[in-house]
Amino acid sequence: MNVGVCYFPEHWPAERAEADVERMAEAGIEYVRMGEFAWSRFEPEPGEFEFDWLERAVDLVGEYGMQAVLCTPTAAPPKWLVDEHPDILQAEADGTTRQYGGRRHYCFNSPTYRRETRRIVGALAERFADHPAVAGWQTDNEYGCHGTLRCYCDDCASAFRGWLRETYGDVETLNGRWGTAFWSQELNSFAQADPPRHTAADHHPSRLLDYYRFCSDSAVEYNRIQTRLLREADDDWFVTHNFMSHYGELDAYDVCADLDFASWDSYPTGHVQERREHVSEAEYRAGNPDNLGLDHDLYRSATGEPFWVMEQQPGDINWPPYSPQPAAGAMRLWAQYAAAHGADVVSYFRWRRCLTGQEQYHAGLLERDGEPDAGYHDASDAAAEFDDIGGERDADDGESLAVPDADVALLHSYDDLWALGIEPMTPDFDYWLHVETYYAALRERSVGVDVVRPTADLSGYDAAVAPSLYLADDDLADALGSYVEGGGELLVGMRSGVKDPYNKLHDAPQPGPLATLVGATVDDHESVPDSLESGVVVDGERFDARVWNEWLSPADDGAEVVARYDGGRADGEAAVVRNAVGEGAATYVGTWPGEELARTLVGDVLDRAGVETTDPLPAGVRLANRGGLTWVANFSADPVPVDAPDGATWHVGDDAVDPYDVAVTDAAPSSLAFGDRPNDA
Ligand code: GAL
Repeated sequence: MNVGVCYFPEHWPAERAEADVERMAEAGIEYVRMGEFAWSRFEPEPGEFEFDWLERAVDLVGEYGMQAVLCTPTAAPPKWLVDEHPDILQAEADGTTRQYGGRRHYCFNSPTYRRETRRIVGALAERFADHPAVAGWQTDNEYGCHGTLRCYCDDCASAFRGWLRETYGDVETLNGRWGTAFWSQELNSFAQADPPRHTAADHHPSRLLDYYRFCSDSAVEYNRIQTRLLREADDDWFVTHNFMSHYGELDAYDVCADLDFASWDSYPTGHVQERREHVSEAEYRAGNPDNLGLDHDLYRSATGEPFWVMEQQPGDINWPPYSPQPAAGAMRLWAQYAAAHGADVVSYFRWRRCLTGQEQYHAGLLERDGEPDAGYHDASDAAAEFDDIGGERDADDGESLAVPDADVALLHSYDDLWALGIEPMTPDFDYWLHVETYYAALRERSVGVDVVRPTADLSGYDAAVAPSLYLADDDLADALGSYVEGGGELLVGMRSGVKDPYNKLHDAPQPGPLATLVGATVDDHESVPDSLESGVVVDGERFDARVWNEWLSPADDGAEVVARYDGGRADGEAAVVRNAVGEGAATYVGTWPGEELARTLVGDVLDRAGVETTDPLPAGVRLANRGGLTWVANFSADPVPVDAPDGATWHVGDDAVDPYDVAVTDAAPSSLAFGDRPNDA
């Protein structure tokens, strides 16, 4: 495990570079990421490449015993290119051009931009092939950032028509699969299929879903242009891409099929503000461990390899609504927590607070004057601790700690996310928050979680939790049925089995193809605003039931009722049912569970599956196990006394974990206890 940093030598006088690089090495940094967004420096005039400045920086990085990670600069095409080829720009759904002036102002489907991409990436790859200090590449930067994954330009229109032809073969099939008789939407040819541009009324949900799939596929295809060129130039390089937190528009699993490992960009105090209506003081200071953990586990699971945090928040940041200073030590806590979930490298963004441009209110490891800021000290502490913990993957031996083990699969599908987003049916429906509720209930019991597609092979998992299997077909029902039959414990959440893969309602009662497996059908559903009375009772205990309720009807000889609604329109109806199938069971949850109900239901599934767990952990405290070591991460403002077995060795810290601190021991999670603060606020 190692620490890295994102460095922009082009922002500083060339004479400064050696002092910077020397200081990085002193901090224990092993990887330096460079070249991102630097196209106007790489090619100031069309066809005139200038790579010497970057090569000098790479040489220096090598001389100081570190490795360079280079980036393709395609997220920021220079002005001359835009002026010469305005057709590369994206269009909004209402036709407005997304102009030059920020970044990500290019369309994935522009033939011109694909040609220009080949030119610049090819030239860079050729220049740095076989350079001993270049370890690998990051393609582009954060595909889709700033709402740019979906474009509605004419190039996208032609590419979409081609995509539809390839998917459906003939237009009659498309009309049938979508159901276009509604509102006179039948198409006579693929040439009539446009992107879903601005309209007075809603678009057809099947057309929207396919457009979202097409946009994701377009980015995947565009990324592949880059990965191929890089690998052709030097097949010793790794190739990765830096994804974003809880990013919904791009299918990360698809992109990852072309990568060696996934990376993602972690800004904990920003992400938590995007997901929570109420942000606690501790969350403003250090983020939320499950909000972070879900991304770590998703991006690790996407390739099954250790991942990288390519950009780690270094201090205060410029883009969320509020920019509080992180807690003292938080930047080290985040690095350790990422490592615990399977990160091999945590690379801080950025080296030094920038004096110019759009991100002057964004900290670096160094302050504006080039002197160390808090992040620098945290980063070097993390680097020293990673070395102590051992098993680091350094440039020479290529060894890393094993990827964390997971007993439970959390099923996540971008298609479901897109389809649910098209028809949320309540302003309170947030796909990620729903997933995170279940994830938190698993992690509160210290269970290792892989975040995989519903179609993944589940045979290695004791239990699987599927917050929503919205688009379901017979193949999925069969695969999940065999899993349960063979002893798997499956929890399926509300709004499952509603639609077919083309986003049309099944003509059988919900959950359609899953009805036999869950042993029940849905009689009715409703969204539940705060002012409607609604609750659920499990074993005599009442929980709030909000957002979405489905009332269930168990089949004869089907499922047993686990919970019933209490009050409101669904009073007395079944809310949660369980169906024994073969060696296992499927639990169907007809409501969006709050924290407490999720804790109860998930706890039940874990107990039934015989998964080794801890008692529910204190709020803000999480354990993660990797390579036989257990990390105790404290994201709360209170100290955490740990009761560990005699003889436990502490590799980092000890059995008194301070606020926003972390400790690492060789004791197993289930052998640790946490005094008297379970689930305190
Ligand atoms: C990321 C982006 C970086 C930088 C950073 C600021 O989303 O990749 O280039 O803008 O945010 O926090």
